This record gives sequence, structure tokens and C-alpha cells, in this order.
Amino acid sequence: MDYQAVMDAIYTRGWVIVDDFLTATEVDALKGCLPTEWQPAGIGRETLHQGNADIRRDQIHWLEPELGAPVVDYLARMELLRLAANRMLMLGLFDYEAHFARYRSGDFYATHRDAFAGRSNRRFTSVFYLNNDWQPEAGGVLRVYDNDEQFLMDVSPKGGRLVLFLSEEFPHEVLPANQLRYSIAGWFRVNGNGVGRVDPPR
Ligand code: OGA
Ligand code: MN
Repeated sequence: MDYQAVMDAIYTRGWVIVDDFLTATEVDALKGCLPTEWQPAGIGRETLHQGNADIRRDQIHWLEPELGAPVVDYLARMELLRLAANRMLMLGLFDYEAHFARYRSGDFYATHRDAFAGRSNRRFTSVFYLNNDWQPEAGGVLRVYDNDEQFLMDVSPKGGRLVLFLSEEFPHEVLPANQLRYSIAGWFRVNGNGVGRVDPPR
């Protein structure tokens, strides 16, 4: 992968799509690490009156090295990306957290931002897709909006594809899929209260 081109794209427009980040064989190896137990996904700030299931229906499992060598390898690739982003964009990214996500037929994730300025230490989002041979009829696109909430693009969740974007600037949603849809969503974070920003009290 051409790190310079990837970071240039992030710098100039805030997002980039890398097709064939991994081969179909590597995607299958990662799928072999999918957990047997999943938990309902949470949302950042759950309110008393709005049930989580109204916002997102996917299930998740946080990545951990124990899931297998392909997961360790994936995390090592994300570490290379983190270092490249720090070197070329001076983002000061401190660590990375990621989870597998499973969307069953009909599951969705309503429009959201992954981070809000001043309220989160997430700076940079990665989404990697594990769906080899995904067809348009299967739905499940990632619909991305710009900072003014205007439609920007639809991204098919096809296997091997990596999407990177600045976490605060692009609202996005996952439209319902009509077959099982797997991804790895991850976030590069700054340390605690990076550059004038502090996590909110809980
Ligand atoms: C997320 C998310 C997008 C996708 O987990 O925050 O927006 O395409 N995922 O899976
Ligand atoms: Mn998101």
C-alpha cells in the first residue's frame, strides 16, 4: 500500500478508500477468527428514552490477539498506519481499538458521527470489510455525508476494502443489508486529553 498517497488523500479531503487492502485469501483467514459470542453494540451516549436498538442493531466483539494470528497481523497493519499518520500528518495518534461487527439481515446503524470535537479521543476511523463476493442487491452500503450533512457517497462493503476517514467530520450510516455483513470498525485515538481536548465526565 502507498502510505504517502493514503495520507495525502486524508490530508486534502479527509477520507480515502483502499481496495484490496487485503487479498480474498487474507479476508477468509480473518473470517476464520470471527468469534462465536457477540454482544449487542452500544452507543456513545445512551439516553434514557432512546433505546439502542433504534440507532444500531449490529453485534460486536472487540479484537484481541487471542482470536488468532490473522487478527494479530491485522492489528500490526493498523499499527503501521498509525505510525504513518503520525509521521506524515502529525496526528499524534496514541493507540487503536477495533471490533468485529456483524449485521444480520435487516440490521442497520442510523446516521451518526464517530466522534464529536472536544468530547472524544477518537480522531481517525477505519472500517474494513470481510464480505467477499458482495453483490449490490445485498444492500448494506456505508452511506457517507460531508460535515454539512450533505450526501457524499455510498460505499459497498466488499471484501478486502478499507475505508479511512476523520472521525469528527463525516456523519455516516449503514443501510440495512439482507444478508450477513461482517466488518472490522476501528478508531485511532489520541491520549486522554489530546491537544486541548478533554473527555467529558461520565
Ligand atoms: C461504526 C460504523 C460502518 C460500517 O461501527 O461506527 O459506522 O460500514 N461502521 O460497518
Ligand atoms: Mn461509525
